[in-house]
Amino acid sequence: MENKKVIFSGMQPSGSLTLGNYLGALKNWVNLQSEYDCYYCVVDMHAITVPKEPKDLRKNTLEVLANYIAAGIDPEQVTLFIQSHVPAHAELGWILNCFSYYGELSRMTQFKDKSKKQDSNAITAGLFTYPVLMVADILLYQADLVPVGEDQRQHLELSRDIAARFNNRFSETFKIPDPFITKDGAKIMSLQDPTSKMSKSDANENSFILLKDDVDSIRRKFKRAVTDSIGIVAYNDEQQGVKNLINIHSKISGKSIEEIVTTYEGKGYAQFKDDVAEVVVNELKPIQEKVDYLLKNKDYLEKIYIAGAEKAEYAARKTLRKVQKKVGFIPR
Ligand code: AMP
Ligand code: TRP
Repeated sequence: MENKKVIFSGMQPSGSLTLGNYLGALKNWVNLQSEYDCYYCVVDMHAITVPKEPKDLRKNTLEVLANYIAAGIDPEQVTLFIQSHVPAHAELGWILNCFSYYGELSRMTQFKDKSKKQDSNAITAGLFTYPVLMVADILLYQADLVPVGEDQRQHLELSRDIAARFNNRFSETFKIPDPFITKDGAKIMSLQDPTSKMSKSDANENSFILLKDDVDSIRRKFKRAVTDSIGIVAYNDEQQGVKNLINIHSKISGKSIEEIVTTYEGKGYAQFKDDVAEVVVNELKPIQEKVDYLLKNKDYLEKIYIAGAEKAEYAARKTLRKVQKKVGFIPR
């Protein structure tokens, strides 16, 4: 355990997880768990940066945890926990807020996108400093690597900047984390607008596949997936919709892009879309069954997140104590 590299990652319980979360992040997390010392977190504190019903937050938090396990994350092997259970996240978050600049936070594209969707009077300070809390999540565990989707790259750059700034101001305190982003298909796109990412907050529900979607919805959504009028299954930037479907197929079936393109030579989009849907249905079915089972066994989930929080707390406190000392707080 000691000499393994540390990995930290998290997802927001802001709704049900999508196929984008699964293929862009979760599947990758599963592959990393035996080789690294992994901390996987449900970031509920991030989820309240936009309005959220308490009962939905509770439900989604457990659902995301169940999805982690159902997708293959082994709670014996990794530290699986809920962010708000480890107060060190909020504490380091505050300190790092005081080492982050208004200017750099204003440049965060996720903030710009999300704040555009809110009434300007409803944009909270929490939404603005959201990336700093994420930086705290990562730095608390001295993470070497952070596996995320492409959309989080800018936040990881920020965590490197803030870590280096703090280390320079005081002395070596934080490990500088590296992003860990798989190249091909790291970003799964909307089925309705293949130039924007698949997101659970999209108003059009045909644009995303939820991990909990039933078979009929999955088939229907793929049938309606926006493609183009070229009519040839090919992998290029002029055919973003088709490219996205090929990526989805390839990431699940393990077949190469070339192999998939060859299979559909001379065939239309209809057959291809149906086949992609089947690949997805077969992948999600066992996960859905496991999630249902876990959500009926809340005691088991509770044991996992309690044990996880204890382990996480231990590691997090160690870093936090160092930081508090360096900035000049008097130990109690
Ligand atoms: P979020 O749902 O924003 O908390 O994202 C959780 C994780 O899933 C992050 O690592 C994201 O980068 C990743 N992710 C979310 N949506 C997508 C997508 N459409 N394609 C690839 N990765 C995604
Ligand atoms: N901001 C990330 C997202 O929206 C979620 C997140 C919060 C995260 N803290 C993190 C991801 C720490 C990686 C590491 O996807």
